[in-house]
Amino acid sequence: MKPDFISPATVMRFHRALLAHYDQAARDLPWRRDKDPYRILVSEFMLQQTRVETVVRYYEPWLERFPSLLALAEANEDEVLKAWEGLGYYRRARNLHQAARIIVESHSGSVPMDMEELRALPGVGEYTTGAVASIAFDIPTPAVDGNVRRVLARFFDEERPGPAWLRGVARETLSRDRPGDWNQALMELGSTVCKPRSPRCDRCPVSSWCAAYALGTVDERPASPKRREVKKSVVTLAVFHCKGEVFLQRRPDSGLLAGLWAFPESGHEIASAYAVHLGLRPMGEHTALPPVEHRFTHLHVRYEPTMLEVDRDEKVGGDGERGRWVGLDDLEDLALPVAQRKVFESCLEHLE
Ligand code: ADE
Repeated sequence: MKPDFISPATVMRFHRALLAHYDQAARDLPWRRDKDPYRILVSEFMLQQTRVETVVRYYEPWLERFPSLLALAEANEDEVLKAWEGLGYYRRARNLHQAARIIVESHSGSVPMDMEELRALPGVGEYTTGAVASIAFDIPTPAVDGNVRRVLARFFDEERPGPAWLRGVARETLSRDRPGDWNQALMELGSTVCKPRSPRCDRCPVSSWCAAYALGTVDERPASPKRREVKKSVVTLAVFHCKGEVFLQRRPDSGLLAGLWAFPESGHEIASAYAVHLGLRPMGEHTALPPVEHRFTHLHVRYEPTMLEVDRDEKVGGDGERGRWVGLDDLEDLALPVAQRKVFESCLEHLE
């Protein structure tokens, strides 16, 4: 259905029914308890690629650790990554940290209310701009995520809701009185009722006006895009240990897990040859640790760790920038990607 065909009466009914439902059924989420723009900004960064149930567990500890924009801006990157550990997509943490620094330096420490200034912050795209502007500042602007797209596609029975269609419909149907609640009500409907599979139309507050429901096309709206193939790869990790310390390398600044600390990838070389390559002296035999499987967005990695005791001259391999030796007890405090932490845990078990 084209946006120009949307009647004001339909929009009014949509607003009334959905906002009434939201007022009565909205989940009590920690970022909905006040409109502090910093708190909203943090929640929207965390929610960019992570489910609500997971974000809930990280949100309050984050705010305890960094209670204000200033506290975040003044923190160093390792502390920020540590607090983000486990949420994945670490680029978001770096962007949020950078955004806090820019806000402190260029916007007197207050999240900008101007949409262009918001949009110019690192990690803030069209969706996050809309979400923060509408939720924190009541600016009447849409925030279209995957849930909202599905709800609108079904309500108006649009098979292929492209960006232009979505922009038009989202603007046309926006509640100007309560834009932040409206955007969240749409997201909420999409994640709790109007789900991708097995939608609960029997419980939907707007099914009476939903075009796809009337036409019996709910399951086909929106049409699913072609699936991108998930690639598979096997990565050999070398877990070198020496006198209660293990060796970590910082990953390259771009690509997967950019800039994070991780066990070295020994590539095709066996671990002992790789140790020699780094200037370490292998002692004894390799031990294969259990493989760890990890799924990134479009990549499935099977990590195959090999543990090897080595001897070293002081400083070998550890210039601090790209490589470092870390005590087994200190690793708790370092931000490690999820799969690497699993490798570390099986290494600990083995050494105990
Ligand atoms: N997903 C993204 N932003 C959200 C919000 N404010 N509430 C619930 N889910 C969300």
